Amino acid sequence: MKPGNETSEKMKASLLDNLKELPTLPTVVAQLMMTLNEPTSSARDLERLISNDQAIAARLLKLANSAFYGLPGKVTSLGRAITLLGFNTVRSLVLTIGVVDKFSGQSAGRYFDRGEFWEHSLSVAMASRLLSAKDPKLSPEEAHIAGLLHDIGKVIMDFLMPEQFQLAMQEVAENGIDHIEAEVHNVGLSHDEVGALASEKWRFPEFLLEVCRYHHRPDESTNNPDVVQLIALADSIVPVFKQQERDKQEYVLPDIPEQWRMRWLSTPRHDELFITKYEVEIEKVRDILNLFT
Ligand SMILES: [Fe+2]
Ligand SMILES: [Fe+2]
Repeated sequence: MKPGNETSEKMKASLLDNLKELPTLPTVVAQLMMTLNEPTSSARDLERLISNDQAIAARLLKLANSAFYGLPGKVTSLGRAITLLGFNTVRSLVLTIGVVDKFSGQSAGRYFDRGEFWEHSLSVAMASRLLSAKDPKLSPEEAHIAGLLHDIGKVIMDFLMPEQFQLAMQEVAENGIDHIEAEVHNVGLSHDEVGALASEKWRFPEFLLEVCRYHHRPDESTNNPDVVQLIALADSIVPVFKQQERDKQEYVLPDIPEQWRMRWLSTPRHDELFITKYEVEIEKVRDILNLFT
């Protein structure tokens, strides 16, 4: 075994050990996650669950009152927020707020920016939800949460093994090495695998585990290939749009494999609609991010 491999094996062992210290998610998040693929419970149950977590409830109301949701009058109660925004939107927002809150704050070094990380994750969540409209069998809410969590392994590594993860990100930034390779080399495992292990620990539904594990090799997903492919597609579009935004250009879709294009964006009309909606929804993403700064 090469010395590099030995180090990486040691890192892997200590990462697996550190995963025991993985923080638990807020109770409301854990409980909502379990109900994701069950028939929806009642609005009253949802209200009761959220009201047990005052920090999340306060942020939810703040969001409900932000300009982008355009609700009439000031929303001061959870019940009214649920009535106006809808059960599914509120459930998605609560899951988002709870997960982002757990891993917000500053990273230990300058090679990983958690703000940018969450912007990417929330954008992929939003793009996945928009694209999911093409397939009535997929729930937009599941697409959203899968997009939100697809890269969760990165922020977990930043949380559990900050020094090693910084080294990995430094290697990516300075030597242009592939993310996955740099992570395995410096931390012992890559973010897709760490995300899958965390999904298991948090008892997430299986489709989330598969999205975490296979979003960089979607053809390998066996049980949930559709949602995995959808997230992989959104994950390839979002960084391109982000770059176009930095360059002050209009959004133009990147080349998409033919088979994916047929499935998720089959006509120029779909492209246009997707881009128009993205432009509106990206403002909501910023609004959510503002809750944490
Ligand atoms: Fe990833
Ligand atoms: Fe990603």
